[in-house]
Amino acid sequence: MGQTGDRTLTHDSHSDALLPAEANRRMFDSIAERYDRLNHVLSLGLDRHWRRQAVRALQLTDQATVLDAGCGTGDLCLDILLSFPAARTIGIDPSEGMLMLARKKLHRSKCSSRSTFTTGDVTALTCEDDFFDGVISAFCIRNVCHRQAAFREIHRVLKPGSRVALLELTRPENALLRGGHCFFLRYIVPLLGALLSRGDAYHYLADSIQQFAKPQIVLDEMREAGLLDVQAQPLTGGIVTLFSGKA
Ligand SMILES: C[S@@+](CC[C@H](N)C(=O)[O-])C[C@H]1O[C@@H](n2cnc3c(N)ncnc32)[C@H](O)[C@@H]1O
Repeated sequence: MGQTGDRTLTHDSHSDALLPAEANRRMFDSIAERYDRLNHVLSLGLDRHWRRQAVRALQLTDQATVLDAGCGTGDLCLDILLSFPAARTIGIDPSEGMLMLARKKLHRSKCSSRSTFTTGDVTALTCEDDFFDGVISAFCIRNVCHRQAAFREIHRVLKPGSRVALLELTRPENALLRGGHCFFLRYIVPLLGALLSRGDAYHYLADSIQQFAKPQIVLDEMREAGLLDVQAQPLTGGIVTLFSGKA
């Protein structure tokens, strides 16, 4: 969820993200070791609850094969494999540092025989069409330079009728909550980031949440990519949104 700051933010008209893909990969490599701990601290442990909601939204069957796009350290894959003992997951991520931790985590949980982790980019997936019974992603899409390309790829690799569930950090609609959330992002997140991770930590996180598209725009993009029944469900007052749809 959280990220450290390469402060050369380069949001431009050709990109939906604040950092180019290579800078983003380096950033996640550099915080990988501390990512999980800071994630749980900053979300007050709520990240686990949000991930479970996303897994439920996929409406998986026992034998499902699921893609986790931007899998990071593998928490979503682990949730799926523990809940569905015959399921398989493929996690892709550009950051080898995050993937290494994901492999270790799944190995410790004795789920590694049903999981594969490989470097990859959600905007250019290497899998064949109509392959997955579900695509899931948490806190990744905000970092992706070309969201439309990502949604088209997700639609392409999903079997017809299968579902996608995407979690992303968003801003609450309620003005009071929004004020508190803004304060938290501007002051508390960078402070905790500095204490628990790299010195210049977690400014990017605040900036990228502030600039992220409104849920309605994300829904329009998902629809344009061919996804059906698209919905945006605010979680925890809207600090997170669960976007869902089906192929
Ligand atoms: C905030 S982390 C979330 C990790 C994990 N999903 C979780 O729930 O903790 C965002 C992840 O998205 C990955 N990412 C960034 N751009 C990506 C892209 N274009 N395709 C796939 N993953 C990407 C990053 O490397 C990083 O591991």
